[in-house]
Amino acid sequence: MTQRELNMQAVDLRPLKIGNIEIGFPVVQAALSGYSDWPMRVIARRLGASYTVCEVMLDQFLTSLKERKRTSHFLHISDEEHPVGGQLMGADPENFAAGAVKLVQAGFDIIDINFGCPVKKVLGRCRGGFHLGQPDIALEIVRRTREAVPDEIPVTVKMRRGIDDSAESYDNFFKILDGAFDIGVAGITVHGRTVTQRYIGPSKWEFLKEVKAQAGDNIILGSGDLFTAQDCLDMIEQTGVDGVTVARGAIGNPWIFNQTRALAAGKPLPDPPSLHMQREVIREHYVLAELLYGETRVGPLMRKFGIKYSILHPEFKAVRSAFVKIRSREEWEAVLAKFYSEDLPGCHPDGKMHKASGSGNNSNKAKDDQSESGSP
Ligand SMILES: Cc1cc2nc3c(=O)[nH]c(=O)nc-3n(C[C@H](O)[C@H](O)[C@H](O)COP(=O)(O)O)c2cc1C
Repeated sequence: MTQRELNMQAVDLRPLKIGNIEIGFPVVQAALSGYSDWPMRVIARRLGASYTVCEVMLDQFLTSLKERKRTSHFLHISDEEHPVGGQLMGADPENFAAGAVKLVQAGFDIIDINFGCPVKKVLGRCRGGFHLGQPDIALEIVRRTREAVPDEIPVTVKMRRGIDDSAESYDNFFKILDGAFDIGVAGITVHGRTVTQRYIGPSKWEFLKEVKAQAGDNIILGSGDLFTAQDCLDMIEQTGVDGVTVARGAIGNPWIFNQTRALAAGKPLPDPPSLHMQREVIREHYVLAELLYGETRVGPLMRKFGIKYSILHPEFKAVRSAFVKIRSREEWEAVLAKFYSEDLPGCHPDGKMHKASGSGNNSNKAKDDQSESGSP
């Protein structure tokens, strides 16, 4: 047995439970505006994510939603992906609750409230991260949402660690955290960056540790800077959080979930997927997206995913340039034929590349309002 294998030890992870919902393996797919649509969530589930959260939706968007074909994809859920979370964002407590009911009707198993979005336009409209500066209204939103959603459906909250680094912001964070648990939320996800920080600088994991210590038995999920399987286990070990939500690190690398399962089981880190393994998933992703969006819309929508998948390719620059231009299934297949025919070993992603490219070419209907894109 090699020294490396001797060093391998299974990690004793507590299975994650949110309210009455058994999630199991505590490494889940985060909400990602412009990305965590049905195809991305299904791929993540098939590759080991135990739970996924849909991209954020506006309460107003949900309450005015008709059976229009162009936007109905936002609420598309399939049997294999349960449990799946729906997330919403808004300004007004009453409207928020009405939006949450729409998510329940659509079939989401958990309703997640977004108090984290740092996009200027969102903050300017008193949504997302803006609420971290007004705990009373934030808690009113939580209360109304909890009342409106059936008891058996857990309500959770997503927060950044504050608006900024001020003492007031710190106090507000804990007012909301404690108040939300008192109201009955089943878990809170904390991203260890402030709203003003956006994506500049690291996510403060020591803060997550403090939050978990304060939350006691209440469920805390950690977020921020999870780019490898080892990062996921390190965050759990270093902070004591009950689970972690993989965000940018899962875009183009859904294998991260099974890799983390392997490491947690005491096995060596699996090799990155070979080019044929990648090709199979990239193709599958396109097929799912085509089912959802239709033949004419799917090509441009898939570019951003192709760009992210290219990160695992040894010739990533050339592959990325090829994916940037695709418009149709034929062009997608041509890229696969050119770059993925030989079954070469793939590469593990370099976290820095992800960090440099947080934003997506979000082309959904409520794009400007919902996206966290623009993050450096
Ligand atoms: C493009 C993009 C879109 C995001 N969309 C959402 C969202 O809809 N809802 C949400 O709660 N967080 C959203 N986030 C924040 C992530 O879930 C996560 O908290 C953040 O990216 C930190 O994790 P990371 O450093 O591992 O990427 C988004 C982040 C990015 C980069």
